Amino acid sequence: MTDRPYVIDEMISAKSIAARIEALSQEIHDEFDGTDKLVVVGLLRGSFVFIADLVRELDLPIEVDFLEASSYGDGMESSREVRILKDLRGAIEGRDVLVVEDIVDTGHTLHHVTNLLKSREPARLKTIALLDKPTRREVDMKADWTGFEIPDEFVVGYGIDFAQRNRNLPFIGKVRFI
Ligand code: PRP
Repeated sequence: MTDRPYVIDEMISAKSIAARIEALSQEIHDEFDGTDKLVVVGLLRGSFVFIADLVRELDLPIEVDFLEASSYGDGMESSREVRILKDLRGAIEGRDVLVVEDIVDTGHTLHHVTNLLKSREPARLKTIALLDKPTRREVDMKADWTGFEIPDEFVVGYGIDFAQRNRNLPFIGKVRFI
């Protein structure tokens, strides 16, 4: 499939993403105002661009940490499992935590990661996803904040890859095979 030629049509512009992040950062600021314990956790690899822009809009004392998860299946998507490839560097017990995800698709990744982190007894655990494809959901999961709800399209850019390519596009694009 990756050998098939394709073009990328812009779906969400860099300007729209920046404006949405500015609005979301206000809501996050209101939620966490007054805390000196916030740890912002990026889920690798897809969230690396989003978290970089988001934290620079947050006028709060924060720490940044990363966790890498990988999901795989046995042919049946509903039985997908999620493996932790890289865990957090720091402990989060008693801390306020904001998990940053690029996209919620089936929901398995965010569901698994939030359950794992909750078991470590943070004071508060919130989630934000730039993109949400609600029609693809297989588990009951919704981020506390969502940037954009999108239809079931093959999206790339702004951290999201197609066969490890196109993560560096400054906008969200839609893959169109030609
Ligand atoms: C993608 C994406 C999310 C996850 C969403 O990660 O970055 O983490 O899938 O899918 P789900 O809701 O169906 O679980 P991927 O495993 O492709 O890794 P990457 O972030 O390194 O690209």
